[in-house]
Amino acid sequence: MNILVTGGAGFIGSNHVRYLLDHTQDRVVNLDLLTYAGNLENLAGCEDDPRYRFVRGDIRDRELLRSLLQRESIDAVVHFAAESHVDRSVEGPEVFVTTNVLGTEILLEEARAAQVGRFVMVSTDEVYGSLGSEGFFTEESPLAPNSPYAASKAAADLLCRAFFKTFGFPVIVTRCSNNYGPYQFPEKLIPLMIANALEGKPLPVYGDGLQVRDWLYVEDHCRAIDLALRKGRPGAVYNVGGGNEQRNLDLVRMLLDRLGKGPELITFVQDRPGHDRRYAIDASHIRAELGWAPTVDFAAGLARTIDWYLANRAWWEKIRSGEYTAYYEKMYGAGGRHGGDAG
Ligand code: NAD
Ligand code: TYD
Repeated sequence: MNILVTGGAGFIGSNHVRYLLDHTQDRVVNLDLLTYAGNLENLAGCEDDPRYRFVRGDIRDRELLRSLLQRESIDAVVHFAAESHVDRSVEGPEVFVTTNVLGTEILLEEARAAQVGRFVMVSTDEVYGSLGSEGFFTEESPLAPNSPYAASKAAADLLCRAFFKTFGFPVIVTRCSNNYGPYQFPEKLIPLMIANALEGKPLPVYGDGLQVRDWLYVEDHCRAIDLALRKGRPGAVYNVGGGNEQRNLDLVRMLLDRLGKGPELITFVQDRPGHDRRYAIDASHIRAELGWAPTVDFAAGLARTIDWYLANRAWWEKIRSGEYTAYYEKMYGAGGRHGGDAG
């Protein structure tokens, strides 16, 4: 197969490109705009593979998509490209709509016109909104997104549904919980806390820190996406999750512990507006239909992740010395949204 991966220079996308090159015989064309979150260093080594090709471009560029899909004889699309950070969507929602909603719509149209045979939409559990202390998200849970990011992903997710229902276009949607692992951009909880701890900086915990996330090691997510691509039913939605709920504060303490740092670095800061309290996934559908189950347990995955950030300090130091620094100052510096103590 010739597979078009969009957003393959980001965190999950780059892990997925590696997964495809390592586990399949397929050709991979990676289309990525290289926004602040896209980084070709995430793909070091892949360029030497004759089955891999990188194209810098925008999923909103219809002409580019048209010629690329045709020129590369694309059989399948795995769609990761998105603005992905909730806090940024609070600061500026517009690009979330143009990239995540309009970009997905244009990609769907062009993929359909090119008669692409499979299209996997990498959606998120955040489309379901927030859970109380009980229960799990199933594929039948109502969509109730709470952040501009989640709302834009829900719109994209539903456009996929509509392209299947209206045009019979073979879209498969995955809705996964929080991922962690190598190459995650250091604005997200786990890499941010690791990097700050290593630099002796405060660890900004939002609100009371008792929000719960269901963490999945990134490679387990990639395997689920690939199974959905090859064996999933067109029109189906598959929840993907680790069955691994952690409270943010417990997770931060765990990280500090493993890094040999003390809890005094923990700083409670103002909560994220609209902050979802708890996510938890019921993954029984993908388990029953596609035989997927997570393989990396949390302690082992976290140890592997910490080791990667320790061994690849130059990777995240470079990022943190660039554009991201301005964002960090804006969010966490004096006068920033998370700049003061909670309360
Ligand atoms: P990321 O922010 O690390 O990467 C996004 C990539 O998309 C970047 O390489 C960026 O350059 C690219 N991109 C952005 N706008 C583009 C455009 N207009 N055209 C082409 N490329 C563009 O994100 P991630 O954490 O790897 O997430 C990837 C996907 O998985 C997203 O769709 C996200 O919603 C979804 N997802 C993420 C998680 C998670 O925990 N990170 C969980 C479930 C689902
Ligand atoms: P994040 O990694 O942004 O993922 P998401 O919001 O998509 O779940 O955040 C994970 C959790 O960690 C979320 O409850 C917000 C919290 N958080 C903090 O407490 N402090 C931080 O600096 C960040 C970035 C996140």
